[in-house]
Amino acid sequence: MNRNEELMNVKKEDVNRENKSASSTNKGVFIKDIENEESHVEDDLLDGQGDEVREFKRPRISLTKNIPKPNYYILALDGEFKDYAFNEERAPANKGKWRCETFKVNEDRPIDLEIGTGNGSHFQHRAVTHPERCIVGLELKYKPLIQTIRGCVRQKAENARVCRYHAMNLDLLFEKNELNNVYIHFPDPWVSPRKPNNRFVNARVLDWLFELQRPGSTLDFKTDSREYFLWSMEQIRTSKYQIEYETLDLHNSTMREGNFMTQFERIFTRQGVEINFVRLRKP
Ligand SMILES: C[S@@+](CC[C@H](N)C(=O)[O-])C[C@H]1O[C@@H](n2cnc3c(N)ncnc32)[C@H](O)[C@@H]1O
Repeated sequence: MNRNEELMNVKKEDVNRENKSASSTNKGVFIKDIENEESHVEDDLLDGQGDEVREFKRPRISLTKNIPKPNYYILALDGEFKDYAFNEERAPANKGKWRCETFKVNEDRPIDLEIGTGNGSHFQHRAVTHPERCIVGLELKYKPLIQTIRGCVRQKAENARVCRYHAMNLDLLFEKNELNNVYIHFPDPWVSPRKPNNRFVNARVLDWLFELQRPGSTLDFKTDSREYFLWSMEQIRTSKYQIEYETLDLHNSTMREGNFMTQFERIFTRQGVEINFVRLRKP
């Protein structure tokens, strides 16, 4: 079974167009992303094809309230799950208040962040198995966003919230020192078309995250794309983070035990793709 067929099997109804940022294997084979509905991104994030990160242009996404024919997932964001999920307008009101107002927990309670939760399997696993921590998820698309939080609510995990928000704007959601651990699993690699400036794990975002995280926190980055990983490692080596662990083959490394396989990781692994992984730490 080829990768497209695998993806189709996971969620046939979800694969409705080729993601312009197309995930790839290490060998650069083009695949379809699991797509749920248009993500309503109005702008290309950052311009250019070069390897250096150019002038930052904030990405804009359409407002949920302006979507002409909202489906169940779009309606659920401001309806059934409004106490657990924030749209792009409500989300920034949490900045600096995640502990005291949103989660109503003490200042020393850890708050973790997952970027691009997808169907939420890892997010839900963290929320349910770590009730002593809180977790926030960012996701652009409505269906995975709602799937992510719905699973938490059904399992009565009160420590989880999600935002429909563009990850490149995450500095508008969190104050310095507000975050603990960060998870970035299989972000869009932007290898076809090749637009390294749109890659999330870049020097600018690493600078932001470093400021937003509390000392001692970790940042995990996993990807199937060797090209993206090697490019990001160059950015990482110039950042303030300590590299705690780095491997080009996570499943044949000492980090294999304790690794939670995400939805995309399962698909890539079944295809024989090696998973690139790095754990960073803010000293
Ligand atoms: C390849 S999937 C990986 C999903 C999940 N982390 C996993 O490992 O199974 C990437 C996810 O990131 C989301 N995404 C892409 N760009 C994003 C952005 N700029 N902000 C927030 N989420 C984004 C996509 O909607 C998609 O659900």
